[in-house]
Amino acid sequence: MPITEIDQMRESVAAKCREIAAREVAVGGAGNVSVRVGDQVLITRSNLRFEAATAEDVSVVDLDGKLLEGERPSSETGLHVGVYRRSGAEAVVHTHGRSSVAVGLVSDEIPLVHYNLLRLGGRVPTVPYFVFGSKELADATGDAVAAGAAAVLLRNHGSVACGRSLDEAVEHAEMTEWVCDVYLAAKSLGEPSLLTSQDLEEVAGQATRLAYGGH
Ligand code: 13P
Repeated sequence: MPITEIDQMRESVAAKCREIAAREVAVGGAGNVSVRVGDQVLITRSNLRFEAATAEDVSVVDLDGKLLEGERPSSETGLHVGVYRRSGAEAVVHTHGRSSVAVGLVSDEIPLVHYNLLRLGGRVPTVPYFVFGSKELADATGDAVAAGAAAVLLRNHGSVACGRSLDEAVEHAEMTEWVCDVYLAAKSLGEPSLLTSQDLEEVAGQATRLAYGGH
């Protein structure tokens, strides 16, 4: 049987899960990953241990979240398809990283502590707590992404990052965790210096002038 694009993408999703597991941001069965292929979404099955992920652990659903192939998809399928329906995202990564959970517990956003936040759409908002797998959580996250956020903190839960490709979504998840690390470290020493929205606009202009693809 020929290897289809879908088979290859399932393997890519599983490989990303194994990579994410090595960074300890998806401990104890936490987290889920998806990628959009046309009007189908490849998404990790529910209760998956990222470190052992294989292509068979990646299910296929439609944009309504209806299962087309594979095992019971992630309990956050509604959140993933909600992001796809509301934005141009092509991949979504949800993890329970230590630093992003910690920042989301005390802060309504990641403030502008570093110019790299431009890649995430600026300040990263925290959405209120709703139980995992709920429509409320899916709607709050989808609305934040529709408003321009490429990453969102979920209070008392984790983070969601999206991108135009699987690689970019993972990169955005890592960036979110890194900037939360920086913010926490600075906060423990004193009050962090913050950039303004104008500073960020200047960075965007500079990136364009110097032809920085990803800023
Ligand atoms: P799933 O195993 O169903 O994807 O749920 C894990 C999780 O992180 C819920 O938010």
